[in-house]
Amino acid sequence: MALSGEESGADGAAKTKYDPEFTDRVIAATGPKAHPRLKEIMPSLLRHLHGFARDVDLTIAELMIGIEMINEAGRMSTDKRNETGMLCDILGLETLADEISSKLLFDSGSFEAATPSTVLGPFYRPNAPLIPYGGSIIYAAPDSPLVPPSGEMVDAPVGEGGERFDGEAGRRRRADANGLYEQQDVAQPDMNLRGRLQTDETGRYAVYCVRPSAYGIPPDGPSGRLLELLDRHPYRPAHIHFVVTAPGFRALTTQVFDREDEHILDDTVFAVKDELLVSFEPREGDDKARWTVEYDFALSEA
Ligand code: BEZ
Ligand code: FE
Repeated sequence: MALSGEESGADGAAKTKYDPEFTDRVIAATGPKAHPRLKEIMPSLLRHLHGFARDVDLTIAELMIGIEMINEAGRMSTDKRNETGMLCDILGLETLADEISSKLLFDSGSFEAATPSTVLGPFYRPNAPLIPYGGSIIYAAPDSPLVPPSGEMVDAPVGEGGERFDGEAGRRRRADANGLYEQQDVAQPDMNLRGRLQTDETGRYAVYCVRPSAYGIPPDGPSGRLLELLDRHPYRPAHIHFVVTAPGFRALTTQVFDREDEHILDDTVFAVKDELLVSFEPREGDDKARWTVEYDFALSEA
């Protein structure tokens, strides 16, 4: 059977109905002084890109729609929201690049026993407030409807059997219980639910936060619209982000996921991994928190 954009030749081999030499001509336009990595990857990118266009018989009108979608994502992207990144996320591209990066590290022998990484996502903000061990990242006033009757404690002992969470603070951020990050929600204070957590001298961390809820990709941009056109749901299961750093170790970008969440098996950005599932257990004897979660991070040496 011939793919659309191709015809079968007399010998049965697929023969394109479009100029068969065009892609080679575009590839050959690369000059000898091209950047070495681009020289390596562009032939593959161009073959796949042109192959896709021929395969689906891409028209100019459709190309223009795609270009406008990327332009719109670019216009919407700021230091608080990365809409272009979100498009990559719903297409599975950040999750795939994360898998490839992890495999390359693993093959180089420097990755064994580390906690798995997963996507950073489009809502990361650097320079969150520094939080001492046992502090809180709930910056809303105590009587605000944004603060639940009791928060949740996330805490982790130093692991055994080679696990470790050493040194400096992990950077941590998450969506609120209403499913909105602070930059999406005028009712939340700047940097609400984000912090750079400092560990104690043994590498333990502990923080009060809000138990996260499932989170929907915002419908107001090209990512949300594409999901709708694809008849896909927009939800990510409840999660907490961590970027864990320590001198002498590789930075780990990851998330932990509430194993009870109804979308735990169908994350719309495909980023859940079994090793990152956590249970929120009832927390006894602490009037500041109703639930508690423990998670140990293991870093690989740099
Ligand atoms: C998030 O982690 O919140 C996220 C990740 C990818 C796309 C959208 C949101
Ligand atoms: Fe997130």
